[in-house]
Amino acid sequence: MLYVGIDLGTSAVKLLLMTEKGEIQKVVSREYPLIFPNPGWSEQKPEDWYTQTMDGLKELLSECDKSQVAGISFGGQMHGLVILDENDEVIRPAILWNDGRTYEECNYLNDVIGKETLSKYTANISFTGFTAPKILWVKNKEPENFARIKKIMLPKDYIAYKLTGVHCTDASDASGMLLFDVKNRCWSKEMCEICGVKEEQLAKVYESYEAVGTVLPEIAKELGIREDVKVAAGAGDNAAAAVGTGTVGDGMCNISLGTSGTVFISSNKFGVDKFNALHSFAHADGHYHLMGCMLSAASCNKWWMDEIIGTKDYAGEQKDITKLGENKVFFLPYLMGERSPHNNPNARGTFIGMTMDTTRADMTQAVLEGVAFALRDSLEVAKELGIKIERTKICGGGAKSPLWKKIIANVLNIKVDVLESEEGPGMGGAMLAMVACGEYATVEEAAEKLVKVVDTVEPEQELADKYEARYQQFKQIYPACKALFDVIV
Ligand code: XUL
Repeated sequence: MLYVGIDLGTSAVKLLLMTEKGEIQKVVSREYPLIFPNPGWSEQKPEDWYTQTMDGLKELLSECDKSQVAGISFGGQMHGLVILDENDEVIRPAILWNDGRTYEECNYLNDVIGKETLSKYTANISFTGFTAPKILWVKNKEPENFARIKKIMLPKDYIAYKLTGVHCTDASDASGMLLFDVKNRCWSKEMCEICGVKEEQLAKVYESYEAVGTVLPEIAKELGIREDVKVAAGAGDNAAAAVGTGTVGDGMCNISLGTSGTVFISSNKFGVDKFNALHSFAHADGHYHLMGCMLSAASCNKWWMDEIIGTKDYAGEQKDITKLGENKVFFLPYLMGERSPHNNPNARGTFIGMTMDTTRADMTQAVLEGVAFALRDSLEVAKELGIKIERTKICGGGAKSPLWKKIIANVLNIKVDVLESEEGPGMGGAMLAMVACGEYATVEEAAEKLVKVVDTVEPEQELADKYEARYQQFKQIYPACKALFDVIV
């Protein structure tokens, strides 16, 4: 049988077609615009997601035996606020995970309601990108839109709704709304009250591997597939990527180097760190995870290459980087502010340490290293919790670069397992559909059978020591710049 994984990302939707044996038959992608209406704001049109998903699905399925398609599921960009009116029409563009406009609403939630109370109700505190502060922002700044809200949805759930007619979400993605009681996997009545949300405005919560329904007859007709094709709830893109990289069960780690950068640690038990520096979310395997999220990761390199030095030859630029561990230039990768661990929407990208002999390659290297140092910041929080991480999987666009993987292995001083496929969230989505259709009994079983490690990048002691010294320097730059970031916004 054939399974479709839909990775609803920030720059594009990527669709993947896979057999139940894990053979990827085809991958297609469709881009859509990202709108920055004000500095630090970030929006997309849900209608664009849907049009491009349908267009991509048609191409994805164009050469296969369509009667073999059995299931569809998702990995979706998290936290985005999609609001629908009583006719299920989108009220305003979605406010995305990397949008920093809710500074005041976050301060209200964290300081007036209080971090301890938020953590008690949801296992998390407020970050500007989370969904609840965005609901408060719409309530405060666009009351006419707030009054029209019939349904509140997350990005991939809007696509699931368009395909099936069911208002659904899953526990992993719901965790990032700050309206969800993560430990008990249900909506938090208290948080709904704080945000002025009625529970009927929220979707029904499923586990990621559960079917929410089948495709609508008109969708089946348009795509030429059977009407009994199941749609599984799917997961937030990080949890889906974790499934696609086999990061399930207890104590496994995955690094995602996409537009955002995440350090994802799976856990069989629910847990929260003392300062809520890491997110404590439900996992798509039915258990839990901790996660640190940086807002700009591979997007820093894309910005540097495309916008600043003006090239598409990423590998060519990286060829000139030869002095690993010896670069005097540092880069703070906070181009959209930063979430973990600084929780500061005013933080900004910063180069420091240039001299007259600094080269273009040094600057490119600093960008790659800055992202690795910022990932290490999240790993350090996990280490403080007593979590031992000796190895990690890696996925996302940035994981295609052998140099970047080497830098990460040495900056974090852990082994980096390279997988046969880097299609984390799309592959995870297809695997969740397989579990919903009964091909595998559990997500763990699917991961064990389908995910293959093909190489491991090991840290080299001498280089890891050099990077250790440089990380200690990197750590001092943000505190030194912090006050300035508030002045220059
Ligand atoms: C996770 C997060 C990002 C988005 C990217 O908390 O905000 O990783 O999910 O799509």
